[in-house]
Amino acid sequence: MRHLMSPLDFSVEELDRLMDLANDIEANPEKYAHACSGKKLATLFYEPSTRTRLSFEAAMLNLGGSVLGFSSADSSSAAKGESVSDTIRVISCYADIAAMRHPKEGAPLVASMHSGIPVINAGDGGHQHPTQTLTDLLTIRSLKGRLGGMTIGLCGDLKFGRTVHSLINALIRYPDVNFILISPEELRIPDYVREDVLRRNHQQFKEVIRLEDAMPELDLLYMTRVQRERFFNEEDYIRMKDFYILDKAKMELAREDMMVLHPLPRVNEISVEVDSDPRAAYFRQAQYGVYIRMALILTLLEVTVC
Ligand code: NCD
Repeated sequence: MRHLMSPLDFSVEELDRLMDLANDIEANPEKYAHACSGKKLATLFYEPSTRTRLSFEAAMLNLGGSVLGFSSADSSSAAKGESVSDTIRVISCYADIAAMRHPKEGAPLVASMHSGIPVINAGDGGHQHPTQTLTDLLTIRSLKGRLGGMTIGLCGDLKFGRTVHSLINALIRYPDVNFILISPEELRIPDYVREDVLRRNHQQFKEVIRLEDAMPELDLLYMTRVQRERFFNEEDYIRMKDFYILDKAKMELAREDMMVLHPLPRVNEISVEVDSDPRAAYFRQAQYGVYIRMALILTLLEVTVC
């Protein structure tokens, strides 16, 4: 039985197969409409989410399966003090696969060690968010035609943003990727990512503060929200929250074929005037999130469709 805790749980070849499957689902959705009939997905969300939970649910429903679960810790037995390992043991009797989001780093990993069904990490604290990364990889590969040979700007809250940590881990496996890490001093990438991931793998990267300076170099700009819920005090959040606002004027500095991604939800960091720019791909990215989760569910449940 296989779980998904980190994007590195799949080899580059396995990721390619997963993305090929997602593209086939996109092209031929009817072929997959009953692939998971009789199967159930449990969504165990101890932290708020719109996209991730609903895209998992939409993915399973598109495959003809059913969904059950909870969307906050308060409405689960966690409120009574039940451990994650007990919860997953019980859920294993009710469902065939589970997606878990938890504010504590490593909680889905603990669950996977006690689970009778595949567990998918749907975001654990400030740590990892592998299905967002799969979504990002599929979006980049589908819209740009490649995953290597690119200068990628990652902008915003690089300290607490788990989507960025997961994406860096995944992208260093492709050739000629050059990162520009754009953040205020206080929200720089954590040391463990800089040292253990980037430096250890001799990855090309630089850290800058001004988005304007990086714009002309980028093939891809990945914007992120300042993660309010992970700040220790509100004043720091307020000081940081509007540090970057991507607007039309900044988009003029970028190349014609640059692409803007954002895992969403957006707060102020991308002005709505950018939404109509053909380079803005964040809503298409949300659609790719459903296709890749469908492919992931099929793969972990070992369902094949001919
Ligand atoms: C991200 C997350 O939860 O980390 N959202 C998502 O899953 N699409 C990004 C965020 O919350 O800022």
